[in-house]
Amino acid sequence: MAKSAVALLGLMLCCGTALAGPSQLTPSGQWTAYQHGAAATPPMGWSSWNTFATNISEDRILGVADAVVKTGLAAKGYRYINLDDGWWAHRRQPDGRMQIRADQFPSAAVGGAEETSFKPFTDKLHKMGLKAGIYSDLGRNSCSQAYPSPDGYLPKGSVEEREIALYGHIKQDVTLYFKTWGFDFLKVDACGIRDYAPGSERTKEGRYRVLDPLIYGWNLNNTNIAGVRDLYHQVAEAIETARPNDDFIFSVCSWGSSDVRSWGKNVGNISRTSDDLGPNWSRMLHNFDSSARRPLYGHPGGWNDPDMLYVGYGDFDAQHLTEAKSHFAMWAIINAPLILGNDIRAMQGPLLDIVGNSDVIALNQDKAGNQATIAFDAEDVQIFVKTLANGKKAVAVFNRGQGAMDVDLTAEHLKLAADSDITLTDLWTKQQSHFRKETKLALASRETKIFLVDGKRRLEGGFYLSEIPGRVNPAEDGVTVPMHDPLVHRHQAWIGTHGTGAHPQYGGWGGAQVDQTPYGQTIALGGKPYDTGIGILSNSRLEVKNAGAKLFTAEVGVDDSTPDKSAPVIFSVYGDGKLLYKTAPKAFGEKPESLNVKVKGVKIIELVATSTASVVTAWGNAALVE
Ligand code: GLA
Repeated sequence: MAKSAVALLGLMLCCGTALAGPSQLTPSGQWTAYQHGAAATPPMGWSSWNTFATNISEDRILGVADAVVKTGLAAKGYRYINLDDGWWAHRRQPDGRMQIRADQFPSAAVGGAEETSFKPFTDKLHKMGLKAGIYSDLGRNSCSQAYPSPDGYLPKGSVEEREIALYGHIKQDVTLYFKTWGFDFLKVDACGIRDYAPGSERTKEGRYRVLDPLIYGWNLNNTNIAGVRDLYHQVAEAIETARPNDDFIFSVCSWGSSDVRSWGKNVGNISRTSDDLGPNWSRMLHNFDSSARRPLYGHPGGWNDPDMLYVGYGDFDAQHLTEAKSHFAMWAIINAPLILGNDIRAMQGPLLDIVGNSDVIALNQDKAGNQATIAFDAEDVQIFVKTLANGKKAVAVFNRGQGAMDVDLTAEHLKLAADSDITLTDLWTKQQSHFRKETKLALASRETKIFLVDGKRRLEGGFYLSEIPGRVNPAEDGVTVPMHDPLVHRHQAWIGTHGTGAHPQYGGWGGAQVDQTPYGQTIALGGKPYDTGIGILSNSRLEVKNAGAKLFTAEVGVDDSTPDKSAPVIFSVYGDGKLLYKTAPKAFGEKPESLNVKVKGVKIIELVATSTASVVTAWGNAALVE
C-alpha cells in the first residue's frame, strides 16, 4: 500500500497532469473494456437508414424483416432489425413520454395518438425470431432535425414536444424502449450535442432550444471529450439497469469525433469510428481505414464500427460485384458489425450470395474476436491477417486501387514458419491452393481475395500478442494530447470539391498498435528491428487475457523512433494485480531486455510502461507461450 502511494505521488510530481494518471496505470487484475450486452461476436442485422432515411413505416420495416427471414439471411445470423431516425411523433407534455408516428406505424396506436406503443411491433419481430432496434440521440434533438430530410417526416408540435432525444430523459426513455416497448438494440447519435449552438441555423428563430455543444465539429481540442463520454456512459448504465440480463446492444454513434476511437470500447458494444458511409468506393476506404487501423480497440463485447453496409447501392450494386465483395469481405475480416442497409425485399442473385457467404460470415463471427491486423500496408494494396479461435488464420488481400495488381503473399505476412506447407482455401470459389514461402496472387482492380489459411505457426507453442488483439486491451494507451489520425483515407467531402478538401478528422493518432510503433514505423529497439510486437507510448497499461499460457515473453525497450529521448522507461508485468517482474529503467538506444515471466494460472496479465516523459516504447515479440 505504502509503496504504491509513494509511486503514485512520484508520478504526479514528476509528470504533471498531461501524462496518464496513476489510477489508469494501477493494475486492477480486471478486464476493463465493455462486457455488458450481447456482443460476444459482432452484431448482424439490417437498419432502415440507407434505404428509407426518415420515410419509414411499419409496412416497410416488417416487409424487410420478412425478406430477411425468407432469403435465409436471418438463419445466417442477420437478426437485428433496426429502426433508425424518423420514428418519432413528439414528446408528450407534461409527462415527457415519447410518442410514435402512428400514421406510419398503425399497430402503435394502442390508446390513440397520445398513448402509442411499439410493443405490438417488437412482438411481431420477436415472433419472427428476430431482434428489434431503435434509435435516439444524446442531445434534445436529432440529426434529421439538424439536417432535414427532403420528405420532411419530422416531429411535430411545440419546441418541447419536438425535443425527442435523450438529453434530460435518459432513464425515462431507455426504460420505455427496453422495458415497456421490448427493444433489444439502441443506437445513440450525437447531432443534438453538436448542432444546436447559440446562433446556429436551427436555434436562430427559436425553432429549437439552444444546447451548448459538447462536440465542435472535428476540432478535438474544443470538444468536451469527457462530457461526451460521460453522457454515453449514463446511457449505458440506464440500459444495463433496464436489461439486467445483458440481452441488449448499445450502439455508440459519435462518428469518430471526441476521440471516441480510443474510449468507445469501454462504453458500448459497437462504436462508430467515422462519419457516415455512402455508396461510394472512396468513402468506403475512408470508413474502412477508420476502424481497420484500430485492431487493439475492438474485442468481444465492444467492436469498431465503420458504419452500416452499402452493399446493393452505387459502387456496390449488382453491376459492381467485385466492389460489393470487397466491401463485404473487408467489413467481415475486421470484425465490423454486419448491418445491411439495402432493401432486402428486392435482393436476389449474386448480391444475396455475397452477404450470405457463410464462410465469410464465419470469419466475422469467429468467437476469438481477433480483428484482422495489417500485415502489408500501402495506399493501393493491403494484406490483412486474422487469427481464428481454432488457431488457424484467414487472410484478405485487398486491391484498393484502380489498376490490376500482382501481390506477393508470404509466410512472414501470415506469421507462419518459413518451411511450412501452406494451404489457402478461397472463400469465394472454395478452391484450394498450396505454397511454401510465398505465392503470387493476381488481383483485378478493386478485387479482394479472401482465404482460410492452414500452416505451421511461426511461434508454434503459443501466440504473439499481435496475433490475438481480441485479448489485448489498451486500458491506458499513454496518449497525452489527442491528435488527428493522418492515416485515414481522405475522400472527396460531402460538399464536392468546394473548400480546401478533406482533412484528418478523427482522434486516436499515437494509440497502441500491433507490429508497428504508435506512429506507424517499424519497431526497433537498440538498433534491432522487429516485425512483431506491440508499439505503445509510455505511461500505458495493457490488459491481456490469458487462456492457459505458462509464460509471457517479450523484448522491451525504448523505440529507436521516439521523438523524446530524454527519459528512461520502466517495464512491469503484473499477474491478476500482483507485480511479477519489473525491469531497471531502460534508456534510449539501450539493448532491449528479454522478459520470461511465469504466468501459469494467471487470468489477467498487465503490461505497464512508466516514464517521466512520453516516450515511444515497444513490447517486441510479446507472446504467450503454452
Ligand atoms: C447520423 C448517423 C447516421 C444516421 C443519421 C440519421 O448521420 O451517423 O447513421 O443515423 O444520423 O439522421
